[in-house]
Amino acid sequence: MSLLVCAWAAPSALAQQLNPFEGDASAVTAGGALFAGRCADCHGADAKGSRGPDLTPRWAAGATAESTFATIRRGVPGSIMPPSAAPDHELWAIVAWLRSISITPRLVSSGDPARGRALFAAQCQQCHRVAAQGGSLGPDLTQIGLTRSREALVTALRDPSASVAAGFHTVELVNRGERIEGVIKSEDAFSIQVLTVDGRLLGLRKAALATIAPRSESLMPVFSTDKLGDSELEDLLAYLGTLREPGTGAK
Ligand code: HEC
Ligand code: HEC
Repeated sequence: MSLLVCAWAAPSALAQQLNPFEGDASAVTAGGALFAGRCADCHGADAKGSRGPDLTPRWAAGATAESTFATIRRGVPGSIMPPSAAPDHELWAIVAWLRSISITPRLVSSGDPARGRALFAAQCQQCHRVAAQGGSLGPDLTQIGLTRSREALVTALRDPSASVAAGFHTVELVNRGERIEGVIKSEDAFSIQVLTVDGRLLGLRKAALATIAPRSESLMPVFSTDKLGDSELEDLLAYLGTLREPGTGAK
């Protein structure tokens, strides 16, 4: 039981999918000021490194807003990088500033984005939204080309369980003999709201459930080479790389 409480004790953090301040100009400015006060000493005023490492190539190397937030919160044990107890919104503002000074190079792919878009409509859209169209079992991908590197996208497709997106962790429940698999949408001490694989949004009382088992595997199917060949993967990557601003990819 205690394990369970641990795993799901922070529903707001889990529900946090992307930085709420991404692209928010005033939060970026505030984040820059916080960085200057708390981090510049070790990472340099421009975050390009001094006692601590250069933080600007992180996004290009596949780091995400969530993983950066987590590192700043926890610190790096065994190094001089300290943990931080600052409120979430301050850390997200710092992350937004770091993001703004980092470059995500446009994704390079030899594929054809139009073919990729057709593949997406056939194989992905049932679970993923782009510009308000599509399913919601998986994350909204409207700006995925801006927030994920090529490497991160390849891993998301070929080996989804290697890194499960925040707020989309799998849970298995048993409710009156029925086995239910889905992602947790919200949770408090007494109840849990789950979006099931077959698209039902269920609100359940925890006391009534025989099992509540968080699982580490993603609900995203593995798109191995027999399901999605390398040239199809290139086409999909070319399309996903165009998804950088609200509204652009859907047309
Ligand atoms: C006392 C010096 C110090 C301070 C202050 C400090 N850091 Fe660090 N930071 C480091 C060092 C050293 C590392 C590398 C740790 C390691 O991997 O061994 C690091 C690592 C990191 C990393 C991970 C880098 C990577 O590529 O793995 C991030 C992100 C980061 N710091 C952000 C911040 C932010 C944001 C702040 C301010 C809130 C901050 N740090 C404050 C010294 C510091
Ligand atoms: C049955 C539903 C389902 C289908 C079909 C599906 N996905 Fe997913 N996808 C998910 C879920 C759930 C997650 C969140 C867990 C994870 O990160 O693995 C996810 C995660 C992702 C991520 C990572 C997002 C992030 O923020 O890191 C990407 C990228 C992605 N999917 C792309 C695709 C593409 C492209 C296709 C089609 C080839 C596809 N998905 C098909 C359910 C699905």
